[in-house]
Amino acid sequence: MCGISGVVLETGQVGPILYDSLKRLEYRGYDSVGEAAVVDGRLLVKKDQGKIDEVERELRISELDGIVGIGHTRWATHGAPSRENAHPHTDCKGTVAVVHNGIIENFMQLKQELEATGHEFRSRTDTEIVAHLVEENLKRRIGFVEAVRDAAKRLSGAYALALICTAEPDKIVCVRKESPLVIGSGVGANYLASDIPAFLPWTKQALFLEDDEMAVLTSKGVRLLKVESGEEVLRKPFTVEWSVETATKSGFPYFMLKEIDEQPNSVRNALRTDPIYLDLMASAISRAKRVFLLACGTSYHACLAATYAFANLAKVEITPVVASEFLDGYAALIDHDTVVLTVSQSGETADTLTAVRGAKDRGATVLGVTNVMGSTLTRLSDVYIGQNSGPEMGVAATKTFTAQVSVLIKIAVALAQKRKTLSEKELQVLQSGFDRLPEWLSMTLLAQKENVRRIVEKYADRISFCFLGRGISVATALEGRLKLLELSYLPAIAYPAGESKHGFISVVEDGYPVIFVAPNDEAYSKVIGNVMEMKARHAQVIGIVERDDGQVASLSDETIIMPAGIPSSLTPIVFVLPLQLFAYYMAVRKGYNPDFPRNLAKSVTVH
Ligand code: AGP
Repeated sequence: MCGISGVVLETGQVGPILYDSLKRLEYRGYDSVGEAAVVDGRLLVKKDQGKIDEVERELRISELDGIVGIGHTRWATHGAPSRENAHPHTDCKGTVAVVHNGIIENFMQLKQELEATGHEFRSRTDTEIVAHLVEENLKRRIGFVEAVRDAAKRLSGAYALALICTAEPDKIVCVRKESPLVIGSGVGANYLASDIPAFLPWTKQALFLEDDEMAVLTSKGVRLLKVESGEEVLRKPFTVEWSVETATKSGFPYFMLKEIDEQPNSVRNALRTDPIYLDLMASAISRAKRVFLLACGTSYHACLAATYAFANLAKVEITPVVASEFLDGYAALIDHDTVVLTVSQSGETADTLTAVRGAKDRGATVLGVTNVMGSTLTRLSDVYIGQNSGPEMGVAATKTFTAQVSVLIKIAVALAQKRKTLSEKELQVLQSGFDRLPEWLSMTLLAQKENVRRIVEKYADRISFCFLGRGISVATALEGRLKLLELSYLPAIAYPAGESKHGFISVVEDGYPVIFVAPNDEAYSKVIGNVMEMKARHAQVIGIVERDDGQVASLSDETIIMPAGIPSSLTPIVFVLPLQLFAYYMAVRKGYNPDFPRNLAKSVTVH
């Protein structure tokens, strides 16, 4: 996710302000940190791998001189955490410095082009190309602002960029597309940041940059421009009413709700996975004799959903295994022809890493999907993919689950393409499904928050809930159950709906709440029968159904209406949202803090 900040002062020193603002952005990333300023006509850059306070102890970033400076706190996406990959990045001559939050999709192509004209790169990041592009444009003597505007026109992807330049040391130029960027307007000082809390101690006057807009900040004022036309944009600042504490959560009462709300964006970022890595993983899986999917907790549920997709889309059998069971259950089967596709948000879960090490020792190829570049899982993996969710502060995994499923389904589709198991038409349907996911997620959040809160209110006194689904929705049901029990401490049950009549049904009595995850997919007609079985025992049914649903909706006591037409393999990504909201509102209703459930840690590093 990363956090960027910048400040232009009439007089004074940027170091203390940048350091303080980066501390308040640390929740957006914390694997590397850096600052740059123009001092006596030269660029001064201080940066390194590590948390802000570690880098402060080492480099005294709070003492950086100069009246114009930019800063960055990193959450690695391209290139592992290291000094070279830490921002700011500079051009060949050390005249331009840039910080960036986002992903530049066409960086490889631009890098090759710039290398061909003699530019030398020092990092493995996508960001560094921006400094070199601007350096190249400056050769045409068009001025710093135009050089940045021309560079921005060539970028695709998502970016909030802030740049400084020795040739025009009185200003910061920043650009925004899809990544957040907000300007703070002060007296004799102006600020920019990824988020408002970064500059709240100095000004409460803020204005948001829109997509494809840029801003030029000097100590005297802020000028907004459209990137495409260079036309000026007039926008007045508004007064921020939030405290620093509220602003860090963007006005949300808890990180969990903020992270649930971020999912249209975090899924979009997850889907930006480099096709080269998808192809590498698909090749390894298609060569293997045996493939396992390993993970714990929520990450395991993502694997379970993916197992259905691998079977149905790529016609490949993959065995999902809870990581702590892997070596006891399957060690005898692991050899050089085995692939273990391992999923871990933190990349540090002890049970998962033990399973991976055991598999490696026996010659298996390790593929990793993680949210933390530079984590142990990335070091143990032969190939790894970052899920690009940014830090998740709530202990309950929410946005990282939907990102994991997104990445795993992308791998399944890459494998299907390699094995030619899907028709052109089927591939198109999936692609348009991927494209529409952010919209479906936004629609669901908008339509269902109040409805789910109302349902929670009505059922808040129940002592147990059951979650049922069929096919790929079993994974969604299990994840809904995990969220509820870990946050509300309620003994909840989840089953494949078809299995419920083999035991669970004896628990059902008058008013027992059963939540059905029932998208309109291949399993739907059988789900209707299961709903009837529950109704016959006087259960109260909460149906999560599609907009055009018929029977399940009419049999349900409560309905949660989801967008229609989501391809079956992608339904867990959208249908899990009301279940996350259900668990969140239930915890809050019971007076528990959903960000810090008792007895749980974000990363479980013990066996
Ligand atoms: C879920 O809300 C929990 N945070 C937990 O189940 C988690 O998914 C599990 O501990 C695995 O963590 P990992 O993805 O970091 O390996």
